[in-house]
Amino acid sequence: MPDPQPNTPMLEVQDLGIRFGGLQAVRDVTASLPAGQITAIIGPNGAGKSTFFNLISGFYQPTSGRIRFRGEDITRLRTHQVVGRGIARTFQTTTIYKELSVLDNAMIGHRVRTRAGLLDALLRTGRERHDEGESRAGAMRALERVGLAAQAGRPAGALTQEGQKRVGIAMALASDPHLLLLDEPAAGMNPEETVSLMSLIRELVAGGLTVALVEHKMNLVMGLADQILVLHHGQKIAQGTPAEVSRDPAVIEAYLGGHAHGGQMGQTADGGNAHA
Ligand SMILES: Nc1ncnc2c1ncn2[C@@H]1O[C@H](COP(=O)(O)OP(=O)(O)OP(=O)(O)O)[C@@H](O)[C@H]1O
Ligand SMILES: [Mg+2]
Repeated sequence: MPDPQPNTPMLEVQDLGIRFGGLQAVRDVTASLPAGQITAIIGPNGAGKSTFFNLISGFYQPTSGRIRFRGEDITRLRTHQVVGRGIARTFQTTTIYKELSVLDNAMIGHRVRTRAGLLDALLRTGRERHDEGESRAGAMRALERVGLAAQAGRPAGALTQEGQKRVGIAMALASDPHLLLLDEPAAGMNPEETVSLMSLIRELVAGGLTVALVEHKMNLVMGLADQILVLHHGQKIAQGTPAEVSRDPAVIEAYLGGHAHGGQMGQTADGGNAHA
């Protein structure tokens, strides 16, 4: 599963864009995500971050540009085909089934992301029953990776906010992806939970996964990302290391927008001021 060539692009997008009626939500974005690294995508609300993930994962079809994944053009592939190639994602809003067990959630992740649709997974069609053993094994492997194997039998809703986020990540990992897209994984978490989630992401990357994440919590982004891509009004306005991006005038302007409302760009991992 680990990509054999570190620092070669896992994903490359070229002039990627999508228009919704009169709104160009993503415009001419060219960027690459190096294998085995963590890329953070940041930008103000409505910048196009989730839309960017929706394009990469095949939820939306781009109106311009190309997407290459591990050297293959995946621009026109559908969601399940993209999953099959090795891209998995979590969603900005929690999509776990709180009344089901942690294991059942991970198994749904495995089924939805492998051969059957959500309806099949929920209705347990014949084919699904046949695949039950395989799903269970895949789901347990995913739960082990996120440290939830011991909680497999508990209702997912009984877990902490961070535990539930881990369930969501396990659902994505159940398809055994090369690239994992996390949309605001630390939303709603306290500082301790955020630190714990950061270690999990680091462990996954140490195990060979490539990660891209959208996140507003700057301490997480600054402490975790190898590179940061900054979107503003759908366009890439900066790309670089956390240090480079945090002192980029265009980025500071995008966040502060001329109003000194205490934008988050100055915060480093230890809570200090990056510009001090
Ligand atoms: N399916 C859609 N139809 C029409 N407009 C959309 C659609 N999806 C997104 N948009 C618009 O595209 C723009 C970018 O939205 P997006 O959700 O990507 O922003 P974001 O950077 O993820 O913001 P946030 O930080 O608030 O999550 C917004 O103006 C949004 O209203
Ligand atoms: Mg979003």
